[in-house]
Amino acid sequence: MTRLKTAVFPVAGLGTRFLPVTKSVPKELLPVHDRPLIEYAVEEARAAGIEHFIFVNAPSKQALEDHFRAAPVLEADLKSKGKHAALAKIRNTVLGDALKVVYQDHALGLGHAVLCAKHLVGDSAFAVLLPDDFLLCDTPCMTQMVEAWQSVGGNMVATVDVGRSAVSAYGCLNVTSQRGRVLSADGVIEKPDARHAPSTHAVIGRYILQGSVMDALARTRPGAGNEIQLTDAIAEDSKTSGLFGLEFAGQRFDCGQPAGFAQATMTMAGLAPARLSLAA
Ligand code: UTP
Repeated sequence: MTRLKTAVFPVAGLGTRFLPVTKSVPKELLPVHDRPLIEYAVEEARAAGIEHFIFVNAPSKQALEDHFRAAPVLEADLKSKGKHAALAKIRNTVLGDALKVVYQDHALGLGHAVLCAKHLVGDSAFAVLLPDDFLLCDTPCMTQMVEAWQSVGGNMVATVDVGRSAVSAYGCLNVTSQRGRVLSADGVIEKPDARHAPSTHAVIGRYILQGSVMDALARTRPGAGNEIQLTDAIAEDSKTSGLFGLEFAGQRFDCGQPAGFAQATMTMAGLAPARLSLAA
C-alpha cells in the first residue's frame, strides 16, 4: 500500500477578494468561528496521516508560519496565570520540524506555487490542500480520498457537482465512468465554457498527485488567466498516471470569498444548519 506522507499548502496568494483586510493579515489566518482557516486544513491533513507539511508562502505572510511555531513567551505567561485550556490550544498547533516553508516571491498562480515545493516533495506522491476550500465532513475529506486512492492509485481530485451555470469557474473533469463516489476521468479542463464543459463535476481544493505531476508542471506553459495552471499539469500527467475524482461526502464552503466565509462561520458557530446528510 502506497503511503501518503507529504502535503503542500499553497498559501502565497494575494487574497484580493478580502482587501483591505489582506493588506496586512493573511486570508488564511482569518477565523472561521474560533480558529484560523489554515488550521482546519492542517488538521485535516494530520488526520489523514500526513507527517510533512510544506507551506508555499509569500515573504509578506510570515504570520502564517508563526501560527504553527512554538510561542515560548506566550506559553510562559499562560502557564503562570494557570490558563491551561488556552495553553493547550496554542500547543496543539505547533508543527515543529514537520513544517517546511518555501517562498513564492510573486503570486504567479496555483501551478507555479505547487512547483515551488518540488525540491521538498521529491518523487513521491503528495497531497495538496487549498485552505480556502473549507470542508465540513463527518470523515475528513483527505481521509476519504486516501482510502479511495489506495485502491485506484493515479492522480485523484476531490469534486463537487456545481451544475452547469457555475462550472466555468472551476477545473472540470471529463468523466468516463463512476463507481460509487469514485469517478474515472480521461481529462480535466480549466474554466471551460459552460456550454462545452465535459461534465458538471468541478475540481475543488484537495488533490493527491503523483510525483511526476511536478515534472509536468515544470514543462507547463501559462494557460487560462496567463497563469501556470495546476489543472493543465494534472491533465498532462494523467495520460500515463490515470485520473480519478472523489465525490466526497460533506459540505463545501468557498472561503475564498467573503460570503462563503460568513456561511462557514455561521455554520461552525451553530447559527446555520450543516447539510452533511444532504451531501453524504
Ligand atoms: P485563490 O485562487 O483563492 O487566490 O488561491 P488568492 O490570491 O488567495 O485570492 P484572490 O483570488 O486574490 O482573492 C487559492 C489558494 O492558492 C494560493 C492561495 O494563497 C490560496 O490558498 N495561491 C494562489 C498561491 O499560493 N499562489 C498563487 O500565486 C495563487
